[in-house]
Amino acid sequence: MYGMTESLRPQVHVRAGKNWINDPNGPIFWNGAYHLFFQHNPRSPDWGPPNWGHAVSIDLVRWTVLDDALTPTPGGPDHGGCWSGCTVPHAGQVCALYTGVDTQGSSHAVCAAVSDGDLTQWRKLTEPVIPGPPPGMEPVGFRDPYVLRHGDGWLCVMGAGVASVGGSALLYRSDDLVTWEYVGPLYERDCSADDPIWTGEMWECPQFFPLGDRYLLGISVWHAEQTQYCAYFLGDFDGTRFSPTCAGRLDFGPDYYAATSMRDPRGRQLMWGWSWEALTTEARRESGLAGCLTVPRVVTLQDETLLIEPAEELAGLRGTHVGHHAGLVSRDEAVMLAVVSKPCYDVELELVPDAAQRIELELHASGDGRERTVVYLDISSGEAGVDTTASTLATFARTGVSRARLPLQPDQPVRVRVLADGSILEVFIDGQPCAVRPRSSPATSLQRSRG
Ligand code: FRU
Repeated sequence: MYGMTESLRPQVHVRAGKNWINDPNGPIFWNGAYHLFFQHNPRSPDWGPPNWGHAVSIDLVRWTVLDDALTPTPGGPDHGGCWSGCTVPHAGQVCALYTGVDTQGSSHAVCAAVSDGDLTQWRKLTEPVIPGPPPGMEPVGFRDPYVLRHGDGWLCVMGAGVASVGGSALLYRSDDLVTWEYVGPLYERDCSADDPIWTGEMWECPQFFPLGDRYLLGISVWHAEQTQYCAYFLGDFDGTRFSPTCAGRLDFGPDYYAATSMRDPRGRQLMWGWSWEALTTEARRESGLAGCLTVPRVVTLQDETLLIEPAEELAGLRGTHVGHHAGLVSRDEAVMLAVVSKPCYDVELELVPDAAQRIELELHASGDGRERTVVYLDISSGEAGVDTTASTLATFARTGVSRARLPLQPDQPVRVRVLADGSILEVFIDGQPCAVRPRSSPATSLQRSRG
């Protein structure tokens, strides 16, 4: 057998028991616990009018999924779905600001709800706090409020964009989280610009926060009705406009989107993303489960380079220590490491490539060698990546190669961390993350006999 479906279901990544989830929403540390909300369609493994799902953890790694926190109110401004948003603490309560959508999905407003205690009961404001885009503007999208404290007041950044023109992040200001004044575009970018990164015609799920002495604007690129990837800009903020000086991707893998973040009590900037399934629609429906959130990642800035690493608490999940290699690893030993792999494992390596070397770490290798997932470092091209072209022979899963250009130097150690959890793999190469779904979790009827 290819493997039990159950063993390919992520065990430590936040997900629903069944059916669909997408974006992480409004992570917050409140009353001694981390709360993480997410887009949840409890009715089917397809996207549908979402609730806000709710998971809670005291250690950032073991999560309990609770009942959904927010559900659409019939006749209310969110009756077509409680789409993405954020949470902020205010006056002894937590305020959620989220996208309320009408039944046609055409009208988007910012709605608000407040809660306290364990954040399971929410009281909604009856009217939206921002009823729609600024008058006169007809953006291709207007959604996903991200609110941050600034001086004595609050700022809200909205995802937006203009068809064939480019993505934009719109800035609002408020003293009380209820009355909002439109300030202007925080930043907008031409959708034909592609150096150093292309950012499409609309931005979903913006996030905006100080990092070191700069600000980071994170976006999820949406173009021609398609979700693409998460990008970031680093730059300066003068209180109304953001001027980036560099840009890049928040994850170089194919299966990471809608990232959002929070500052935790230790001052760390934590970030989560949504990892969708790499399955055909049919296979996803048969599996009855779609999507999980990535592990919490810590974002730091080192000399203008963004570093993203798993939160150190994840080491607390380690069970039996399987092996330790020092010095040269022969091909056979590398294959052994792969064969030892369990559905969940955590690998931490320091690799020192020499000038001519391509180093490959083979994961999830099948006994006959036909299926394998390869993490590689190629010093000659300065490229590192995750090659999933041979990860699965199943026709119901997507495969490909995810590449990151890194300043690899001969004889300079490269840190590699691999977190494998059922069907999801998160690889971190010198602080550059790649989320990928190399192993599919097919439904029983789609399982393939290996003989
Ligand atoms: C991003 C997104 C958001 C929206 C939500 C709806 O994946 O499209 O822009 O609020 O999902 O579920």
